[in-house]
Formats: sequence, structure tokens, C-alpha cells
Amino acid sequence: MMEQQAKKLRIGLLGFGSMGRTHTWAVQNIPFFYGPLPFSAQVSGVCTTTVEKSECVAAEFSIPYATASEDDLINDSDIDVIDICTPNNCHFETLKKAIRAGKHVLCEKPLCTTVTEAEEIAALPLQAGQVCGMVFNNRWLTPVLRAKQLISEGRLGKILTFHGYYLHSSATDTARRAGWKQDKTVCGGGVLFDLGSHIIDTLGALCGPMIEVSGMSQIGYPVRTGRNGDTWQTNADESFYLMGKTADGACGTVTVGKLQVGTNDDFGFEIYGEKGALRFSLMEPNWLYYYDNTAPDSPIGGERGFTRLECVGRYPGLIFPSVKAPAGWLYGHLASMHAFLSAAATGTEFHPSLADGLYVQRVMDAAYRSDENRGVRTEVLPCS
Ligand SMILES: NC(=O)c1ccc[n+]([C@@H]2O[C@H](COP(=O)([O-])OP(=O)(O)OC[C@H]3O[C@@H](n4cnc5c(N)ncnc54)[C@H](O)[C@@H]3O)[C@@H](O)[C@H]2O)c1
Repeated sequence: MMEQQAKKLRIGLLGFGSMGRTHTWAVQNIPFFYGPLPFSAQVSGVCTTTVEKSECVAAEFSIPYATASEDDLINDSDIDVIDICTPNNCHFETLKKAIRAGKHVLCEKPLCTTVTEAEEIAALPLQAGQVCGMVFNNRWLTPVLRAKQLISEGRLGKILTFHGYYLHSSATDTARRAGWKQDKTVCGGGVLFDLGSHIIDTLGALCGPMIEVSGMSQIGYPVRTGRNGDTWQTNADESFYLMGKTADGACGTVTVGKLQVGTNDDFGFEIYGEKGALRFSLMEPNWLYYYDNTAPDSPIGGERGFTRLECVGRYPGLIFPSVKAPAGWLYGHLASMHAFLSAAATGTEFHPSLADGLYVQRVMDAAYRSDENRGVRTEVLPCS
């Protein structure tokens, strides 16, 4: 049988801030995690605001082409995909050019800064086989995939109410300068755009789209230091409280904000249906909580109660690491390798050392000797 040739996808990346770096990491690491792949993807070009910065990024991440002109990338016949990781107010013009140039386009959220722009983009005709999409990455978390599956199977029955949230605490740091995400003229909105877009998408995918909403915005700290160091009047919401209703009559609330201390990066939801309920928090990324309202409720509560479903690393198609690997497991390896290589590069002492290895070896050896001796207490030889 003829082996199918993997389709080559050469990506032109626009913007190299936190998301440009994240997307580059994802593209460069996909072969470790999935296989065999029907494509081979490479970040083939990068565009930032200056040639110097682009060249620096290109050299650091083995990207063959660097430019400060997005038109160069978009019109380059050697580029198949345009990946938009620039601030929100850049998306519209870039999207128009990239879609019209026939490129596949992946765009970070939110699509645009206004509905008028977004409508124009959504109405642009696509060529046959041209694929365009958004980065709403939270849809791909295993508990969210599992929630979708349970809802599709009818395990919740009719959905009655929901609560979604996405909470950070960065706006409570009054010494922190406002960035572009706190400036409506660049972001298009405030935290509703920045974090709210994620949870609105996820709730829409799980509960159905909202057809009616009411909202209240909050600015906790109206004055702070701006990007250039001057005093700056905040113009973008720092928290947003939304009530909404879906076409099927489910009603609920969405809270998003950067005024919530202790939250780190807490994205989550509660969804309540006639037959069951779901709860998820990104701060507990391994678990989806499921309540089966059809389970027997007696004696003494029967089998009712939230069950913690183990979603862990069960990403469809993932071959690495193990499906049972909890979120964060690989980071331990990353940190270990980083610490060792840093020590090797600087000639500094590294722990856990070989002596730490010897200690573990001695404990295991003593335990086996004890076992062979019917559990008699056995001395662990001291480490010098
Ligand atoms: N999906 C997610 O989890 C997530 C998280 C954060 C941000 N985002 C989205 O990703 C996008 C980028 O956000 P970020 O956090 O990476 O921002 P960032 O400020 O960290 O990075 C943006 C980069 O784009 C560069 N840039 C600005 N204008 C440019 C232009 N015209 N051409 C090329 N580069 C330009 C900037 O110099 C900067 O390096 C935004 O749309 C944001 O809403 C998504």
C-alpha cells in the first residue's frame, strides 16, 4: 500500500508575545504528543513590530524567516497558514488580508474589536479547502471535552441553569502598569473581551448559545500608571457580571474579572440540568465533577453525590505522555531538566544529587531485607 504523504503546513506567525511563544511551543512539540500525523507543521516565518525582534525570535526558535511586515508573510507563497497572535485591534485588517490571500487562518480570541468588523470577517468567502478558525483553547481541556460528551449523551437532561467564570487578580496590584488589555482602544473591551470571550465560548458550546443578556461592568481602580509611565485613567472593565438566557430557556450568570485575589487563573463552570449537574475549575484541571440526579437517593442518600471523574491526560489521539498523566506532570520533568542543565552550564551543585540517589537506594534495600526477614526492623545504612 502506498504511504500517504504528510501534508506540509508552513506557518507564518504574527506577534510573538505570550501567545506567539505559546503557539510556537505547541507547533514545535506536537510530534511528541500525537502520531502518526497527517501533516508536518513548522513555524516558517515570524513577524513582530521590528525586524530586530523578529530576527531574535527566529534565531532562538529556529524559524527560518523573520520580518516586520505582515504583508510579506501573508503574500509569501511558501506560507500556508497565518497564525494571528497580535493585540486585538490588529486582527481585523490581518484577517481580511490573510483570508483574501487564500491562507488558512488561525486567530486568537477575540475575533475583532467590534461586531461590525467581526461580521465582515465572518462573511468573507473562503476558497475550497481553505480553513479558518479561532483559538478558544479551553474547549480542548479534557474535563470540558468530557462535559460536552455527557451533555450530548443526555446525562444532564434539559439544562436549566449555569454559572461560568474566569477570574484573575492582576488588577488588584495597583503598582502594575496598565497594559494594552486594559486599554479599550486596543483590546476592544475590557476583561469581558479578554477573559469573558473564553467562558462565553465554552458555555455556548456546552449549553447552547445565549440569545439574551444583561450586564454590569466594574472598574475597581480607575487610576493607575499607564504604559508610558504617566497617570492613566482606566477605560476598560476590570470585572464584568453578565446574566444570560439560551434559546432553550436555560438561564445563568457569567462572572469574569481581574479583581479576584487568590484566583490565579480560575476558569470554570457549573451547569445544572434536570437529570444531572457538572462542575469544573481549571485550578483542579484533572477532574470533572458529575452529579447523577437519577441515581438512587436512599438509603441515607443512596448513590447521590458529586462524582469526581478522572479526565487527567485523556486527550483524544494523544500518545504521550500517558493518558493517566495528570496536568502538570510534564512540567516537573521540564523543571528538572532546566535545573540540571543550568547547574551543568554554570558548574554549580545540583540536587537531587547522586548522594540523594544513594539514600533512596539504601532505604529500598533495607525494606527488601526487612521483607525477607518477616518484617524485622532493619537499619538503613547512614549516608556519609
Ligand atoms: N487563548 C489564550 O489563552 C490567550 C491568552 C492571552 C492572550 N490571548 C490573545 O492572544 C493575542 C495576543 O495576546 P498576547 O497575550 O500574546 O499579547 P502580548 O502583548 O504578550 O503580545 C503581542 C505581541 O504582538 C506584537 N505586535 C503588536 N502589533 C503587532 C503587529 N502589527 N505585527 C506584529 N506583531 C505585533 C507585540 O510587540 C507583542 O510582542 C490577543 O488577541 C489576546 O487576546 C489569548
